[in-house]
Amino acid sequence: MGGEPAKWVSMVTARTPTNIAVIKYWGKRDETLILPINDSISVTLDPNHLCTTTTVSCSPSFDQDRMWLNGKEISLQGGRFQSCLREIRARAQDVEDEKKGIKIKKEDWQNLHLHIASYNNFPTAAGLASSAAGLACLVFSLAKLMNLKEDNSQLSAIARQGSGSACRSLYGGFVKWVMGKEDNGSDSLAVQLADEKHWDELVIIIAVVSARQKETSSTSGMRDTVETSALIQHRAKEVVPKRIIQMEDAIQKRDFPSFARLACTDSNQFHAVCLDTYPPIFYMNDTSHRIISCVEKWNRAEGTPQVAYTFDAGPNAVMIARNRKTAALLLQRLLYNFPPQSDTDLDSYIIGDKSILEDAG
Ligand code: ADP
Ligand code: DP6
Ligand code: CO
Repeated sequence: MGGEPAKWVSMVTARTPTNIAVIKYWGKRDETLILPINDSISVTLDPNHLCTTTTVSCSPSFDQDRMWLNGKEISLQGGRFQSCLREIRARAQDVEDEKKGIKIKKEDWQNLHLHIASYNNFPTAAGLASSAAGLACLVFSLAKLMNLKEDNSQLSAIARQGSGSACRSLYGGFVKWVMGKEDNGSDSLAVQLADEKHWDELVIIIAVVSARQKETSSTSGMRDTVETSALIQHRAKEVVPKRIIQMEDAIQKRDFPSFARLACTDSNQFHAVCLDTYPPIFYMNDTSHRIISCVEKWNRAEGTPQVAYTFDAGPNAVMIARNRKTAALLLQRLLYNFPPQSDTDLDSYIIGDKSILEDAG
């Protein structure tokens, strides 16, 4: 047979969970490097539930870098994708796979093109941190494909340049994004505060109030906030530094009342800052507010918090129950107050493990 010799394809697939901040990142001091104005703390979700799966491949037969998100081709021209690709290519190593007859020298990576296909198994751009799972997964899978020697903390500083919240998805458990002091961003990276086993009685329940794409992306929302809100400076300089210390302490001690109080008040302050932005940004809707009231009433009636809530840049509720029993009772309450397919707009209500309902007794 004549013609071109068969060309090889090298491929890696990775799966990365999303993370939800309990002390929020909102506001940048450097838009290009994505350097934040305060530290933040998050919890990484179970990778079996909300996650991104990304396959990256390279081949001499590809003539340009291309990417598909949820089956639709998207442009890789944006500065953030380009920053991640540049940083990873600069650290790429030799790759040799004798079985497949693949031999790539590190300098070859500058000219080899990539095809990337990524799927989110949860709503994209709806305030459930798809950019966090998505960009962390992109960086992680490319690092494997190109045989990078960097550890997760160094990879987190690359993922940060794709989307700030992504740096925290490189670790499981409780994670802090240290804002750092350097202008070049070298010390703005994620550190693990506690692994996934440290506080494993907590149960996270997500109520999808709306799967629709938000009107204001996190990126443009926080830019407007930094430009127009006076409250954000007070938050970043006075409020968050104290909360970070208190939250780290609550996590170490597994002190649920303090954890819940800090997470709820921080979420509320983040949304207050959005309201203080001009023009104001409304990420929560009436259903979100009703969920907050429902949890607050219950916590008050119990005398001590049973459930913490937090809302990212969207109307969807993330609730953290102190144990399985509480989570089961919470689910019952949600199903009663927001029956699916009713006239409330809580259209699809729970993502996760519904077998937990059996624990309600
Ligand atoms: P979210 O609240 O979901 O994080 P953002 O406004 O922060 O919303 O970011 C949404 C953007 O993140 C999408 O428009 C897309 O550009 C990017 N994104 C989401 N998922 C992925 C993915 N799996 N791979 C690459 N980029 C992604
Ligand atoms: C409300 O990380 O999505 O979820 O850095 O511009 O990509 P960019 O923004 P993004 O912002 C997340 C904001 C938040 C809070 C948080 O995750 O800490
Ligand atoms: Co995001």
